[in-house]
Amino acid sequence: MPNAITAMKGQSPIVVLTAYTTPMARIVDAHCDVTLVGDSLAMVIHGLPTTIGVTMEMMILHGKAVMRGLEKSLPVIDMPFGSYEESPAQAFRNASRLMGETGIPCVKIEGGQHMAETIAFLVARGVPVMAHIGLTPQSVNTLGGFRVVGRDAEGDKLMADAKAVADAGAFAVVLEKLPEGLAKRITDSISIPTIGIGAGINCDGQVLVIDDMLGLFTDFHPKFVKRFAQLGDEAHAAVAAYAAEVRARTFPAPEHSFPDVLPAKGPRA
Ligand code: KIV
Repeated sequence: MPNAITAMKGQSPIVVLTAYTTPMARIVDAHCDVTLVGDSLAMVIHGLPTTIGVTMEMMILHGKAVMRGLEKSLPVIDMPFGSYEESPAQAFRNASRLMGETGIPCVKIEGGQHMAETIAFLVARGVPVMAHIGLTPQSVNTLGGFRVVGRDAEGDKLMADAKAVADAGAFAVVLEKLPEGLAKRITDSISIPTIGIGAGINCDGQVLVIDDMLGLFTDFHPKFVKRFAQLGDEAHAAVAAYAAEVRARTFPAPEHSFPDVLPAKGPRA
């Protein structure tokens, strides 16, 4: 339940990772408090340059797949660009569709003060909302790139954004690519948990994109991503070994093949 995540503030760090498929959702679910079906699937699954091209249908497809792999973590699904910004009513229509078709009980939306009315509208109608402020990738074209946000005068606006989404009823807020001191001041000032990504050690929880931290997606490597494994390198080595064995006719070996005649069973002991 989202309330249980809110209650973790000040108690224990909240562990969040993204997932997009059933097998990966099973792994994430075994270790994390929240599993996020992030619209980062644009880049890491679909090869798109940004999250702008993600559709409701893409989120629903991956949301359903993730739900099949979860038993205990809280599922949250991103609302895609263009599905909620127009009006609170549009946001409710699409949030209820995402929830109804996937079974995921919570949505995440990007934006601070300007989305507060929408967050309050959704929460009042039974939609738990995780907010997302700071670097909001769906606004990359107006933010002017994937830069750190909140340095100097921008910090006051970010603080006001955090307070606005908390007051509107969000159950947690993602802080993306903020200076660590500002992230700490925000974390100390609001009653809901902050989930950091590139926002330093003092947030109430942390989130990473699973393909980044496993070293599966290597097109770019932001400073805030720690690679906890190098699965991309391992996959290359495995595929190269397979290709070599097929070309050398050493795979499949007898143990991978079916004989024409089954060996006779020996006498019973
Ligand atoms: O889409 C996503 O994966 C996200 C996280 C990085 C917070 O929004």
